[in-house]
Amino acid sequence: MKHTVKTIQKMRNENQPITMLTAYDFPTAKKINDAGIDMILVGDSCAMVVHGHPDTLTATMDMMLLHCGTVARACDRTMVVADMPFGSFQYGVEETMRNAARFVTEARVDAVKFEATHNHIAKTKAIVEMGIAVVGHVGLHPQAVGALGGLKVQGKDMDSARKVVSEALALQEAGVFAIIFEAVPAKLSAYVTKKLDIPTISIGGGPGCSGQLLVTPDVLGLYDNFTPSFAKQYQKFGAIMLDTFKQYKEEVISGEFPGEAHSYKMSDEVLEAIEK
Ligand code: KIV
Ligand code: NA
Repeated sequence: MKHTVKTIQKMRNENQPITMLTAYDFPTAKKINDAGIDMILVGDSCAMVVHGHPDTLTATMDMMLLHCGTVARACDRTMVVADMPFGSFQYGVEETMRNAARFVTEARVDAVKFEATHNHIAKTKAIVEMGIAVVGHVGLHPQAVGALGGLKVQGKDMDSARKVVSEALALQEAGVFAIIFEAVPAKLSAYVTKKLDIPTISIGGGPGCSGQLLVTPDVLGLYDNFTPSFAKQYQKFGAIMLDTFKQYKEEVISGEFPGEAHSYKMSDEVLEAIEK
């Protein structure tokens, strides 16, 4: 059975930790689905970890729709959340609604997420009223890297801690069914989690949230241009890939590949006949 806003809320109510990972392609999403991970975020982190850009600002609607559709086709259990790219929810309410709708009608995802602040509460409400499930995102907003002057922990001082609390409460009020806490001190996200009725999901938000999220290429050891301190590398697949490609090159040069097992056969008579 596929996860819904109801089953995710039930997990939070029963104190079962919610697991979430990012995905951008079909084979990875399929493995995440088959491993029983509850939710996938098709993050705009895709611009960095898949497309090689220095930040997430270059992600577009076309890029996100393509990856979201690919991931959604792989998931029959995991709930798929689309991350709305920079520029897709900053202008009018109507444009934001149209862009949110494209993710559910064209890519067939289960929910959308965007880096909403107090300025986007009306838009959040409008999308929820359309019938689309929405995930909030507080703490570090990577799309605001320019104004923030870098990707840094948020909510350590009084003003920014108050901002995290008030945004989370406003988002819950606006109807989001979950909120991601990115790069927020563990004590603060634990405090807000207790104040809220909906699940909180941590990425660098500590163990006091209702669930955890990591960027999959960080988990697999496939991206080393930028690794935040909260990311945990479980495997070194990047090193395995490098060795594999070197081995392939060596075998082609030495003539070991392709051997008989990887070549097609034909009878000598055919070759003799075409010689004539
Ligand atoms: O794009 C992304 O992967 C995200 C998470 C880091 C929250 O937004
Ligand atoms: Na993102």
